[in-house]
Amino acid sequence: MGVLSAIGRQATTAAGWLTQPLLPDDLLGTLNPLWSASEPHARVVGLRRETADTTTLLLRPGRARTRHRPGQFVGVGIRIDGVWQWRTYSATSRPGDDVLAVTVTAIPGGTVSGVLAHRTPVGTLVRLGPPAGEFVLPSPVPEKLLFVTAGSGITPVMGMLRELAATRPETLDGAVLVHCDRTPSDVVFGAELRAVAAATGMRLVERHTALEGRLTPDTLADCVPDWAARQTWACGPAGLLDVLTEHWDRHGDPAALHVERFVAPAFAGDSSGGRVAFTTSGIDADAGPGTPLMVAGEAAGAVLPNGCRMGICHTCVGRLRSGAVRDLNTGELHDTPGDAVRTCVSGAAGDVEIEL
Ligand SMILES: Cc1cc2nc3c(=O)[nH]c(=O)nc-3n(C[C@H](O)[C@H](O)[C@H](O)COP(=O)(O)OP(=O)(O)OC[C@H]3O[C@@H](n4cnc5c(N)ncnc54)[C@H](O)[C@@H]3O)c2cc1C
Ligand code: FES
Repeated sequence: MGVLSAIGRQATTAAGWLTQPLLPDDLLGTLNPLWSASEPHARVVGLRRETADTTTLLLRPGRARTRHRPGQFVGVGIRIDGVWQWRTYSATSRPGDDVLAVTVTAIPGGTVSGVLAHRTPVGTLVRLGPPAGEFVLPSPVPEKLLFVTAGSGITPVMGMLRELAATRPETLDGAVLVHCDRTPSDVVFGAELRAVAAATGMRLVERHTALEGRLTPDTLADCVPDWAARQTWACGPAGLLDVLTEHWDRHGDPAALHVERFVAPAFAGDSSGGRVAFTTSGIDADAGPGTPLMVAGEAAGAVLPNGCRMGICHTCVGRLRSGAVRDLNTGELHDTPGDAVRTCVSGAAGDVEIEL
């Protein structure tokens, strides 16, 4: 890898002299996709089977990568049947680790997760978006911590726990993690979570829902009586997060609950559709009614900036050059040139040009 990096650096210098007709980055990307800065790639260098449906992929980015903060996510692009598909995954490795780890649970019927979890061999080239997201711990770390997670929702919290256990284990003494999964063997990172608890004084409450049923605010209060006095980070299925949000709204401090959602809220708006021109990449695409501009562009081969893919992180913003777009969440129309358009939650309202 050191040799490859050195070759990549020399190629960067050499490519600087060869700017016509290709730009250096185009040339580098053609020589080796791992050297492209404009389309960052990573190589799968290891796989760890965590449970029957969950696999950790160890990714080695090609060029200097932006370090994530524990709890943040990255966009991962993989080519399936000739089309680049992008999804978002929380980083489960520590920021300083050599390789970036993402841990993927296969969703039955899902387009990408099954491929990543079960059919992505070592050596596969994937694309990588920059780290993003606000589901992170503040500094200093609050004294009274509570984590509530279920299923694959453990991933961003595992990223936090690994970092804290390695650098500030004392912050986990007295913290509580309530984690729900169907059975003990379904618990992703089960052995490691138990080891972190034993080593740091963190209390781990495993709730096995096949036997004990789902977590409710009452059962949470039974196992963590001082829940309202804690700063809480929660990640899991929408149903659980909705119940917790309502409970904190009514009986706690809503600002003390920090939630990460993996599934976007159902879109309320719609759009008529139209032709979208991405002016920087020079790619045109048909965006059908209700189709986010990002999805239409990616299907046509555009590599677009992306992060959460649900309207939160603003990574995907492009300027509106002409035409109109409709916000698929709110139904609002934007038709002023220069407007910042979040392509992941905006549909075309007629033909439109976006500066991306
Ligand atoms: C901020 C963020 C972080 C994420 N981190 C992780 C992570 O660390 N590990 C991980 O495995 N996934 C994570 N996800 C979910 C991931 O991005 C994909 O949505 C998931 O892998 C499904 O992709 P798919 O292509 O297989 O399903 P799709 O083909 O996109 O969807 C198929 C169906 O499954 C539903 N669905 C999508 N995701 C889920 C889900 N998580 N649970 C239940 N139903 C779902 C969809 O609504 C749809 O009905 C994260 C999502 C976000 C927004
Ligand atoms: S990708 Fe996060 S707002 Fe669009």
